[in-house]
Amino acid sequence: MFSLKPAPLLTVVAVLLVVSVRAQSPMAAGRSLSTSPPPADLAQLMKGVIYPSSNVFFAAQVDDPATIKPDSKPSVSPNLLTSTFGKWEAVENSAIAIAESASLLSLPGRKCSNGADVPLKNPDWDKFVTELREAGLVAYKAAKSKNQENVLSAAETLTAACSNCHSKYRDNRNRCR
Ligand code: HEC
Repeated sequence: MFSLKPAPLLTVVAVLLVVSVRAQSPMAAGRSLSTSPPPADLAQLMKGVIYPSSNVFFAAQVDDPATIKPDSKPSVSPNLLTSTFGKWEAVENSAIAIAESASLLSLPGRKCSNGADVPLKNPDWDKFVTELREAGLVAYKAAKSKNQENVLSAAETLTAACSNCHSKYRDNRNRCR
């Protein structure tokens, strides 16, 4: 009888394990993402995520990242190039952040600043998002090469990805339509 005592405890541990594995499964994460509207409108997402990353990349056209001096307080530097993870590493991280955050442009439920839905149903939206993701990857490759010539040409690709979408969906009176 005594030897049976640990069994309930083990069962509890096993159940907890199963529950925690389930909570972290990609399916569960996907479900919660698609049911809650994303917190930012599209303009906030641009200004808070896409724009800061692309500025770091564009800045690497002008100044050689290798020669950029770290900030006196690098751990709180708002300029990623002079931060703890600065120089070329900042350029790499910003480029890959652009590629990664392109997916945020396709999350369901997001509004634009004028209250219109992000036009996910339009096939060209998908095309523009893919163009941004691919431009981010081109930028990442250029950053990894630590070669400013490559950064210049990747910056052209990136600028085109921004402006192709903007000329259709931003720079007119009917944003996002
Ligand atoms: C798939 C389409 C798309 C791509 C790609 C895109 N944008 Fe945008 N962007 C928009 C739209 C639409 C708005 C207006 C959003 C709103 O009003 O809610 C916008 C707004 C902005 C804003 C806010 C300023 C304003 O006028 O509202 C900035 C900054 C911005 N984009 C920068 C960028 C940069 C930099 C890139 C490229 C690295 C980029 N965007 C790529 C669609 C895009």
